[in-house]
Amino acid sequence: MTSHPTFPTPADAPIGVFDSGVGGLSVLRHIRALLPQEHLIYFADSGYAPYGGRTEAYVVERALAIAAYLTGKGVKALVVACNTATVAAIKAVRAHYPELPVVGVEPGLKPGAAASRNGKVGVLATVRTLQGEKLLQLRDQIAAATGAQFLLQPCPGLVDLIEQGELDSAAIDALLAGFVAPLVEQGADTLVLGCTHYPFVQDAIARAVIAAGGRDVKLIDTGDAVARQLARLLEGAGLQRPGSAGHPPTLHGYTTASADALASAFRTLLQLDVAVETLKI
Ligand code: DGL
Repeated sequence: MTSHPTFPTPADAPIGVFDSGVGGLSVLRHIRALLPQEHLIYFADSGYAPYGGRTEAYVVERALAIAAYLTGKGVKALVVACNTATVAAIKAVRAHYPELPVVGVEPGLKPGAAASRNGKVGVLATVRTLQGEKLLQLRDQIAAATGAQFLLQPCPGLVDLIEQGELDSAAIDALLAGFVAPLVEQGADTLVLGCTHYPFVQDAIARAVIAAGGRDVKLIDTGDAVARQLARLLEGAGLQRPGSAGHPPTLHGYTTASADALASAFRTLLQLDVAVETLKI
């Protein structure tokens, strides 16, 4: 039988944040900025990444295994900091944990349509995200409401390079050129970063836009909106940890691959020294 850790008050329990790998760190940085007093656990499923080319059943199984681990750690809320896992598995996670506040990340189609001047919005995401029923429904709904046209662009291979720490290299530029140029050529003036790994190659994406002849193309990242939604849910449930709470906030990292690799990603991407453990789940 699993014994759940106890905390001085429910608000003192940590928030669990997970992704297939290091991408969710782009969401974690917004959560830390908005809710600096919260205890956080970050789980990178790098041993099973990328999720983007896998079946829906595979992603659901991984998401449920991670949710079981994190709820066993007593988390008071869960952030699915991965578009692919949100589109494929958030329904299953919510069904298993109906009492737990669960926040997901969906590609920012709505802010993309609002930001676009000509109504042409490119969406960069994984194959699995772009094939998900949830995403296609969202696209149809927002297209009907705003008249925006969404150009869906899968980006196979991009997560793999980012997981390897290649953020600014000739290989990234070459791969991105093939994804970004067709969108610019079709007139997209706004590009939605529909995968939490992509904000880490935002500069390379901006370079690819310019190389393709694009001007004034906006990039949309939803990490900040996710942090605000989390804050609203915690506040509504009376679970925000007060700023004056005694112990300083903690941040622990877990990964299903190399602990050194995740610790190094924390340093490179967020300039943080974090204790990381490897797990097999
Ligand atoms: N960060 C994940 C997302 O937002 C990457 C998915 C993958 O592992 O392919 O979709």
